[in-house]
Amino acid sequence: MKTYLIVGGSSGIGLETVKTLEPENKVIIISRTNKNMEGLKNIQFYHADVLNDPLPEITEPIHGLAYCPGSINLKPFKNLTEHDFMQDFAINVAGAVKVIQKYYPNLKDSGSASVVLFSTVAVHIGMPFHASVSTAKGAVEGLTRSLAAEFAPHIRVNCIAPSVTDTPLAEKLLNSEAKLKAATERHPLKRIGNAKETAKLVAFLLSEASAFMTAQIVRTDGGLSSLKIL
Ligand SMILES: NC(=O)c1ccc[n+]([C@@H]2O[C@H](COP(=O)([O-])OP(=O)(O)OC[C@H]3O[C@@H](n4cnc5c(N)ncnc54)[C@H](OP(=O)(O)O)[C@@H]3O)[C@@H](O)[C@H]2O)c1
Repeated sequence: MKTYLIVGGSSGIGLETVKTLEPENKVIIISRTNKNMEGLKNIQFYHADVLNDPLPEITEPIHGLAYCPGSINLKPFKNLTEHDFMQDFAINVAGAVKVIQKYYPNLKDSGSASVVLFSTVAVHIGMPFHASVSTAKGAVEGLTRSLAAEFAPHIRVNCIAPSVTDTPLAEKLLNSEAKLKAATERHPLKRIGNAKETAKLVAFLLSEASAFMTAQIVRTDGGLSSLKIL
């Protein structure tokens, strides 16, 4: 049985990752609320706001860590404030840095560990109104490659760059038939993402099945960032 730490395991992709890993592993969860935890057995839950609270002390080795908190803060550039940029940087980048620094000794103690971070499709392909979030997520991609280099060969670091995925975070983008239809049509695969399939990708990257992968930005975006189909 391995021990995984899922930061942001109470909702969306993080919650589905917990459900994917939990039957056969111990899963430690850190988030601000413990909603959606009913029926989960092999879990240990810690309440913490990664930006404002001290992180819990964990003494055991950690084989894999996924950092799931993030933002989708879409506004025209002229309306974005310095505060918006700082907030997006805080939750997407500084929170991940704080968590990885805190639990680096636990990852090292496992002998062979894996870290999964989150970017967005909007880093690889420019999209209007994404200036703040894509700036922050671009930093996450840089962090991924830097840490992968620094932590090799014992800790792998990879990043997932999703397109719009049906989770509470994306609710505002999908809360009408018209928005859902537009999002569906935009993707070459003619649908949006779902949290369960992304969770399987997280579980793969955390597991030894991906033992030869590090420093990768894995795009799960229905072809949006790579294909132009007329
Ligand atoms: N969904 C999409 O369309 C989409 C697209 C591109 C990229 N992404 C990225 O994918 C990742 C996962 O997104 P998601 O859609 O699954 O998000 P989500 O449904 O909002 O889940 C985020 C998780 O992070 C936790 N969290 C948020 N702020 C926190 C804080 N300050 N301290 C501790 N925990 C915190 C939340 O739990 P609590 O509220 O209980 O704290 C929740 O468990 C994010 O990095 C996001 O930017 C998502």
